[in-house]
Amino acid sequence: MTTEEMISKLDSIQGEAVAALAQTERVEDAIQVKNRFLGKKGQMQDVMKLLRDLPNDGKRAVGQASNAAKNAIESAYLERVEALEAAEVERQLREETVDVTLPGRVFTKSNGNPLTLMEAELIDLFQELGFEVADGPEIESDFYNFEALNFPDDHPARDMQDTIMLENGHLLRTHTSPVQVRTMLAYELPIQVISPGRVYRHDFDPTHSPVFHQIEGLHVDKHITMRDLVGALKAFVDKCFGVGTKMRLRPSYFPFTEPSAEVDIGCIFCGGDGCKVCSHTGWLEILGSGMVDPNVLRGAGIDPEVYSGYAFGLGVERIAMLKYEIPDIRLLFDNDIRFLRQF
Ligand code: DAH
Repeated sequence: MTTEEMISKLDSIQGEAVAALAQTERVEDAIQVKNRFLGKKGQMQDVMKLLRDLPNDGKRAVGQASNAAKNAIESAYLERVEALEAAEVERQLREETVDVTLPGRVFTKSNGNPLTLMEAELIDLFQELGFEVADGPEIESDFYNFEALNFPDDHPARDMQDTIMLENGHLLRTHTSPVQVRTMLAYELPIQVISPGRVYRHDFDPTHSPVFHQIEGLHVDKHITMRDLVGALKAFVDKCFGVGTKMRLRPSYFPFTEPSAEVDIGCIFCGGDGCKVCSHTGWLEILGSGMVDPNVLRGAGIDPEVYSGYAFGLGVERIAMLKYEIPDIRLLFDNDIRFLRQF
């Protein structure tokens, strides 16, 4: 092709493209037409492949002509798309009506999962009692989860806290108690902390979940005695279950406390007369506690001749189930909207 032939070819491509665009009825069609002429494999490109056979001044002239054609096609395309879109809006305004008298859609906003609410409430409550919040990892070493808490290697108490073991000798922590050791090692005394968080055990029934939540408490200072423990727990019980709720301590065993006590409250359902929830005992067990074992203090570099402390650990699910009268722990994790809406 000569220079003149190419220029007139470009001219006719432009004419054809502009005419084709004017015929389109939908934006998608306009896009297709544009690609047919301007795309990588479009007609314009086909012509431009012949450019290299032209003399230099021809190349310049054809280059200018092709730019002009390209611009003309582009603007015809944009104009067409705008017109089609405007026509569509026109059509919608004409044909689609909105009934502005219909009631609006109501957005329901969740208050949060009862478990989250309960945890936040308990954290607030303990902060009011002077506890700071400490954090610890859910993937824990055997050392912090068991050894430093005075669980001998072959002690049966380990069996009661069966969990998922990881290949590197770590495990999913079975309780929040390892945070006791971590805070004692990390912070200056005195220490008064709670540590809320997720824990893991091989347990699954209507009142146990393999993943659940605990709040650990620890207070270490000079002259801490069991009276401080009872005082803190009583304040907690009054705040959580109402002033005057009965509370009692029963001797128990935990490797990391000596002495150890299980804490019960008077049944909040029957007032102590005996009912199904309290298995006709009049009491509900709510947490484990005790005086920090001297071995645990010593292991954390604290002299048990100078310092002493109390600790406690409670299950958040358990407290939430009692307070909100939730019969099955799985309801807390199912995310059934009919359940969640009640909080
Ligand atoms: N870690 C215990 C458990 O998960 C609960 C517990 C008992 C924590 C007594 C304590 C404590 O701090 O003093 O079963």
